[in-house]
Amino acid sequence: MKIAIGSDHGGYKLKEAIKKHLEKKGIEYKDFGTGSTESVDYPEFGMKVAEAVKSEEFDKGIVCCGTGIGISISANKVPGIRCAVVSDTFSAEMSRAHNNANVLALGERVIGVGLALKIVDVWLETEFEGGRHERRVNKIGDIETKYSMR
Ligand code: RB5
Repeated sequence: MKIAIGSDHGGYKLKEAIKKHLEKKGIEYKDFGTGSTESVDYPEFGMKVAEAVKSEEFDKGIVCCGTGIGISISANKVPGIRCAVVSDTFSAEMSRAHNNANVLALGERVIGVGLALKIVDVWLETEFEGGRHERRVNKIGDIETKYSMR
């Protein structure tokens, strides 16, 4: 499994903690920045990670900002990306099982590192259930198609 990871300054410290965690678990990742707590703009990093996942060079993405919100909205603008902002383990599981989320967004200023790492574990371990959920996820793609033709 290859993970694309990125953050803005507001999520930088959490990103670094997640990188260490992935290393311990032997999970391969590439860091798409940012490289410090110096102020940057989250859309750039949301887009980079989303494009890396879209390219299929990476299986999944993890993005962090202060709330997880701005970077998730940005990642979700890339067609084919289903980025879920998650602050609890139940939503982490459901975002994979039901929504087939391919990018996870976390808010450094919202949850603690311990919970964030647990969310990462649950999210990476949970498989998409398919079936009726596949039909619904496909309908999300239909919305993208509808608006890409305008
Ligand atoms: C940066 O101050 C902050 O706005 C950003 O990290 C994020 O929370 C945006 O959604």
